[in-house]
Parts: sequence; C-alpha cells; structure tokens
Amino acid sequence: MKRAFEADGSVADLPSAPADTASSPSPSAPASAEARAAAVAATIARTAVEQADHAMRHWTDPLPDRLRIGSPEHLRMFCNMLLQTHNPYKPSVIDWPVLPPDALRRVTSLPIWDIAVQTEGRASIRVHSYARTVRDPLLRSALEMDADEEARHKVVLAKLVEAYGITLAPEPEYLPPADPEWGWLVTGYSECIDSFAAFGLFAAAKDSGFFPAELVETFEPVIQEEGRHILFFANWVAWYRASLPWWRKPAFAWKVWRVWFFLIRERIGIARGIDVDVDGAAQDANFPMNAADTLGQTLSPGAMIDLCLAEDARRMAGYDARLLRPTTVPRLARLVRRFLK
Ligand SMILES: [Fe+2]
Ligand SMILES: [Fe+2]
Repeated sequence: MKRAFEADGSVADLPSAPADTASSPSPSAPASAEARAAAVAATIARTAVEQADHAMRHWTDPLPDRLRIGSPEHLRMFCNMLLQTHNPYKPSVIDWPVLPPDALRRVTSLPIWDIAVQTEGRASIRVHSYARTVRDPLLRSALEMDADEEARHKVVLAKLVEAYGITLAPEPEYLPPADPEWGWLVTGYSECIDSFAAFGLFAAAKDSGFFPAELVETFEPVIQEEGRHILFFANWVAWYRASLPWWRKPAFAWKVWRVWFFLIRERIGIARGIDVDVDGAAQDANFPMNAADTLGQTLSPGAMIDLCLAEDARRMAGYDARLLRPTTVPRLARLVRRFLK
C-alpha cells in the first residue's frame, strides 16, 4: 500500500523533507538534481502514506472523561473515531505489484472476486440507505463515510481484477433494501462475522506466502477499514439500543435476533452448498468460506481461530479503550476453540 498511494494528492501539507535531501543541487549536475528532487518527492509522499496509515489505526478522544454507553458523548466519540481515522487513499493510483507466475495463478484462481466485488457494492447501498434515514448530522456523515468506504473497496477490487486479468461476471443491480435498518443490521453483523474470519485468513495468507508480501501490503488498509467499520457498528448498536424508549427495545431485540438467525441460516446453507437466494446475500457469506477452502489448509482449525482472535485484538488495540469492541463473534470463537485441538 505504501508505494501504491504515493501519487495521492494529499501530500501538500506534509512536513518538509530532511535537510540533506532538500538542499540545493549543483547546477552542473542536472541529472543528479532531478534524481534528488525525485528522492525528496518520494520521501514526502512516503511520509504522507505512513502518517495516514498510522492515523487510521490509532485514535483516542482527547476528552479524559469516563464514557457512559448510550450517551451523546458516546455517539460523538464513535462517530469521530470513524471520521477522523479515514485514510484518504485513492484506488485509481494504486500501483499493483507485478506478480510472479505462480503467485498470479494463485490470485486469479481464487473463486472470490465476483463475490467480493458484489459484497462491497451491496454493503455500500445498504449503508447509504440507512444513512438517509438518520437525522443526526454527525451520525449521518459517519454512516455516509462508511458507505463511501465500501464503495471504495469495490473500486479497489475492480482495479485488482483488472490489473491481474481476472474476468468478472456481470454485476447485478444493487437495490436499496425495503427496510433500511434491516439492511444496515445485516451488513453490520455480517461484517462482524466476515471481518473476524478475514483478519485470520489474511494473516495466514501473508505468513504462508500464499499472497506475495507486496500484494498483502497493498490490500492491508482495506482489511483495517473493515476493522474500523465493525468497531463503529458495535458502538452504534449499543448506543442505539440504549437510546431507544423502553417500549421500542423489545422490537429491536427481536429484530437483532432475526438478523442473527438469517445470517446463521445463510451460512449453514452455504456450508451445505445450498444457494440461499435472499436478496443475493448468500454471496456475502461465501467470501470467507471460499477463501478458507482455497488458502490451503496450512493451519489446524484451532490454530486458525487463535490467529483470528490474535489479529482481532491487534487490529482493535489502537482505538480509544472506552469504545466497546465487537464481542459476539470472538466469544463464539473462544467457545468453539475449547472443543478443538
Ligand atoms: Fe468493505
Ligand atoms: Fe465494511
């Protein structure tokens, strides 16, 4: 990712380059001067990318107060977390690394690209649909950023498949959900499941060399963005539940149960090879399952869960400790882990 986003225009406000590289070149050595200027530009751009990368992973609210979950301060904190950790990279300037033939074959033969592109497209329309129903301006802008980042993931994936000559199936029309809150809940909880799995799979692909290091680095911010999304979602759920009047809480709790039932049924269907055709959502669930099948069984199931848990903790560690963390999927994973070697 680092080199990939150097061409981003967001480098104007960066600190000046080190004095040794910024000193005046000799007029008698124009070629050398050009080389030095290019080195300075590269240093500035690299610094910008590193700062943006660090900023997206580390965020603490400056107010020292304790946080009451469900309070206006809680709302402000989790919205600001998402808005202020946005990484402004531009997919159009990603410099996709040239892959050696065996790595290229592994990447192009993964059966996930159609699914991944469609998942991002569907997530974006769902989150945008819910954002339009929200009156609070800060929450609405955070939701819109979340939706825009999903749309950007789709562009990143489209650029990847284009760069590596992968042919995609025609995309379906992404229709807004009839119930925007249902669509947002399905997207949020689905991401909690899929991101937890993706954290471990991505680390396994990196450690095993299944994906070349350069490609891993290029794709890394997308994975961290999903971590930010589920952190935001977990806090939104807690805040929303707490801020509902008592008489609306049972209906919301019932809706959340129905979402989980829907997602579990969907994944059981996929595991059995049944095509669950509900709003096209079956394809969402395919992503980590197909990836797990294809990335080679280099780790035992127990070791894979350990890796998912460790990566989940690592990716969440940089954000304000007062914010809630997604806990349902890690808890379920720990429960399953007790029965595995
Ligand atoms: Fe995404
Ligand atoms: Fe996401």
